[in-house]
Amino acid sequence: MGTAVRQPEVGEHSGKSVGYRFPPGFQRNLLWFALRKFRPANPILLFQHLAETYGDIAHYKIGPHHIVFLNHPEYIREVLVVQNDNFIKERTVQRTKMLLGEGMITSEGAAHRAQRLAAQPAFHRQRIGEYGGIIVEEAARIRDLWHAGERRDISIDMMHLTLNVVARTLFATDLREEVCELAAAINRIMGLYNFLVMLPAAEWLVHLRPPGLAAFVKARKRIDAVVYRMIAAHRRSGLDRGSLLDLMLAASPANDAASRQSLRDQVITIFLAGYETVANALSWTWYLLSENPACVVKLHKEIDEVQKGRLPGFEDVPRLRYTEMVLAESLRLYPPAWAMGRYARNDFSLGDYFLPGRTTVLISQFVTHRDPRYFPDPLRFDPDRFSTEGKAQRARFTYFPFGAGARQCIGESFAWMEGVLILATLAQKWKLQLVPGHRVEPQPLITLRPKYGMIMQVEPR
Ligand code: HEM
Repeated sequence: MGTAVRQPEVGEHSGKSVGYRFPPGFQRNLLWFALRKFRPANPILLFQHLAETYGDIAHYKIGPHHIVFLNHPEYIREVLVVQNDNFIKERTVQRTKMLLGEGMITSEGAAHRAQRLAAQPAFHRQRIGEYGGIIVEEAARIRDLWHAGERRDISIDMMHLTLNVVARTLFATDLREEVCELAAAINRIMGLYNFLVMLPAAEWLVHLRPPGLAAFVKARKRIDAVVYRMIAAHRRSGLDRGSLLDLMLAASPANDAASRQSLRDQVITIFLAGYETVANALSWTWYLLSENPACVVKLHKEIDEVQKGRLPGFEDVPRLRYTEMVLAESLRLYPPAWAMGRYARNDFSLGDYFLPGRTTVLISQFVTHRDPRYFPDPLRFDPDRFSTEGKAQRARFTYFPFGAGARQCIGESFAWMEGVLILATLAQKWKLQLVPGHRVEPQPLITLRPKYGMIMQVEPR
């Protein structure tokens, strides 16, 4: 494919659709035929079909809206990095806003920049190092509660663990009492999410509280109550522990209704972004390890050599190389952030194509990470793809579990460290084996979850 970005010819912008050059794709409007075939409940099937049939870039319409799906590193780089000023999140995050409001993930322009700047110190390397001790403490606490031979839903364990980690590290709050309530409310919302995204104007209907959506409103209220209690306790204490919550409070010191709402949005965003993603990454990793015993042997060997029987610490992370490679390969096959969307403000060029403003651009980590051109034998779990040599051979923007460009994940370093330390702490003592016959299927909601949980047997090493 031609990767050079074509400049539009003079006069091409004039005229309604004259001059546009659309990529290949569905001829008929998706609304009328393809939605039936692919069920909106699983957009990954649609994306895979587009990539297999049309290649690097595919076009379709839903009603009057143009949509392009990209599956080539050069196009992905153009949208996320080179032309990123033209691509905003607006509209593509409309439904996510129903839960998150205007936090760092959904905000735009100056509001986004201010939020990102205020939060940045909490994600500096040195701060992240300080979180290592808490992460290991929380992981060691749950590993000591497990019993040999018991069957557990590991996806719930990972959710509770990472929720506690985010609360203690970033918000200096011990949520232990409330963690089950909070996780259950978020689960409830996720369960309703599929239903909500299919409803036209769902974000508007929520305020009218029709019976079908009452559960959503109730679950959101429960989450808000925990968040507001946490903020109020922080304000009352008057202590500045330098946590992310302190940074957020300092950036919006007013205590009026609008500021309270804005703070709530920012807190809930970090909570959800920071725990759901890591918990899912870990659940998928335990699953993949359970299916690949040879990798488990290598993982145990590394952990024993590095840790010599003691708990891991932040300083061990660089030496837990294989553990990190296992996590990287798991993020390839089951990326928790499985797709991203952008909305074009103005007409734009991609390769040989020239597309109108207001086009929605979709990119899917799930699809690109499984493309055999970039990852031969893509369904095989092979952590060695992420050895130093493996990484050096691969083109950029073929692997992007944390996104790229100005909106790249702010928590990436935190997530790598947390994932490695949790794997190293738990795998030091236990081996997790998928219960035979348990159904495993990815469910693409806001994040990629195991649809039926992950029931595993806990076995001593
Ligand atoms: C394995 C774990 C994680 C994955 C796969 C992940 C993935 C992503 C991706 C793909 C984006 C970019 C979305 C886009 O451009 O549309 C993103 C943004 C973000 N992530 Fe993560 N993330 C993870 C962990 C975390 C953690 C631990 C935190 C915080 C504690 C966090 C906080 C955020 C925030 C606040 C944003 C928005 C950044 C911005 O727009 O400026 N994430 N994440």
